[in-house]
Amino acid sequence: MIEQKTAREPGLRLRRLRRTQPLRRMVQEARLHVEELVYPVFVVPGQGQRQPIDSMPGISRFSADTLLEEAAAAREVGIPALILFGLPSHKDEMGTQAYDSEGVTQQAILALKQAFPDLLVMADVCLCEYTSHGHCGVVVDGEVDNDRSLKLLAATALSLAQAGADVVAPSAMMDGQVAAIREHLDGAGLNSTPVMAYAAKYSSSFYGPFREAADSAPGFGDRRSYQMDPANAREALREVELDAAEGADILMVKPALPYLDIISRVRAAFPHPLAAYNVSGEYSMLQAAIQRGWLEERRAIMETLTAIKRAGADIILTYHAREVARWLKEG
Ligand code: PBG
Repeated sequence: MIEQKTAREPGLRLRRLRRTQPLRRMVQEARLHVEELVYPVFVVPGQGQRQPIDSMPGISRFSADTLLEEAAAAREVGIPALILFGLPSHKDEMGTQAYDSEGVTQQAILALKQAFPDLLVMADVCLCEYTSHGHCGVVVDGEVDNDRSLKLLAATALSLAQAGADVVAPSAMMDGQVAAIREHLDGAGLNSTPVMAYAAKYSSSFYGPFREAADSAPGFGDRRSYQMDPANAREALREVELDAAEGADILMVKPALPYLDIISRVRAAFPHPLAAYNVSGEYSMLQAAIQRGWLEERRAIMETLTAIKRAGADIILTYHAREVARWLKEG
């Protein structure tokens, strides 16, 4: 029995490797690196904007000019990538601003790439921020129509890639969206633009603060007819398999913390680079407790992100990116 053995010398004593900091560091299995962080940002039209988001302390919406300052600060601490979410000046049924070459997101991408050519600029591809009804696709007779949405999503991805996005990231959970986007990009000669697919995206309450930030809450109903049921794990593997078969270059699981089992299962089953999105509600939950002094900021955030890494994520999208990058730099 293990108990008897640990009592004897030279028995099994796992505490030996925990005695000193250098030993602990040497045997540490999962470690965060700044190179794997993606910082999500919200962009609004206009100039000089820095609109704090109530439910996400520390996070603001930026106009293209102030976004350059935020990007410079992110670069300063070594963050390699941003992912952009745009809030258009005008929304309509078909989300036309999503695929307008003069749209708020396209303009922000242009400005970012001009100022920081080697910054990785990723663009979320969805319609919910751009449609008047707030759904991620086209609504026909009160339902989100899959195949009509594909054309608009493909047009959105192309327009974002043409503006200079280095990676496009479809998040609408329409069947066939990765293939539709890949085909459309290739047809326009953009066969080198990778697709990072939100492959297993759950219908989660943890998107609440994002919907305030991006003004993208559905005007009627919810997203359960296209986003996944939180109770399903095997189905996630089917979703991921489909996106992989359609040519996704990077796979994503979202949210991260309540779905560590999904990250771990996808990691085991697919060789692709795997991203995990530490979403708005995960951020707000920690910030709320930190602000009240109930959790220690640095330890709570690092423990959370390390858990996501340990589960198998290669890339982490997180609103904590700036602090984490700073801590990693300090060592
Ligand atoms: C767009 C999209 C959402 C998020 C990322 N892309 C919102 C949603 O699906 O409702 C959520 C990100 C977050 O909560 O931080 N569809």
